[in-house]
Amino acid sequence: MNSLNVSWLKLLRSLLIVAALGGLGLASFSATAEEDDRHGMVNDIDLPTDAASLAIGEERYKARCAYCHLSSGRGGSSGVCLACQKYKWGSKASAIFATISAGRPGTKMGAFGNPETGLTAEQTFAVIAYIRTLQEKKIADDKLAPPQN
Ligand code: HEC
Repeated sequence: MNSLNVSWLKLLRSLLIVAALGGLGLASFSATAEEDDRHGMVNDIDLPTDAASLAIGEERYKARCAYCHLSSGRGGSSGVCLACQKYKWGSKASAIFATISAGRPGTKMGAFGNPETGLTAEQTFAVIAYIRTLQEKKIADDKLAPPQN
């Protein structure tokens, strides 16, 4: 099989995964998330836990996301806080996957679901696993020095 076919197959597979997960979290595609999915760190899809995947997640996050969301994940002038517990579009892993893959049209959050220009599904899972570590770090930091507001 030539390489063109292989990349088309990869694209097709990613689109199928996006479609399947989109079906799981239909609400997260259409409207902002239900109140019960706006807080917390529920992993309703399996995220990688091994060090190699987390390193990929960190590397991809720093290359593609930190520009807006900051390397701490705590948000800057043009990206919201991902290390926080409050998520507008859903904080379950499937909702975050949908946000990253399809973007949130009408906002600055672009779509990364095309593996040629964005992230593969595996890289996206690794990035979400890395975002969970940023959330855990913020929880630990907030315990040491509770936010003033
Ligand atoms: C050009 C700036 C920019 C880049 C780059 C970017 N984002 Fe975003 N992202 C945003 C903005 C702005 C929002 C808020 C969208 C809105 O108004 O609801 C957002 C929202 C999100 C949300 C939803 C947060 C919520 O409250 O539900 C997630 C998850 C997210 N981004 C993850 C990522 C990841 C992962 C990457 C890298 C692969 C990334 N973003 C790259 C700007 C960016």
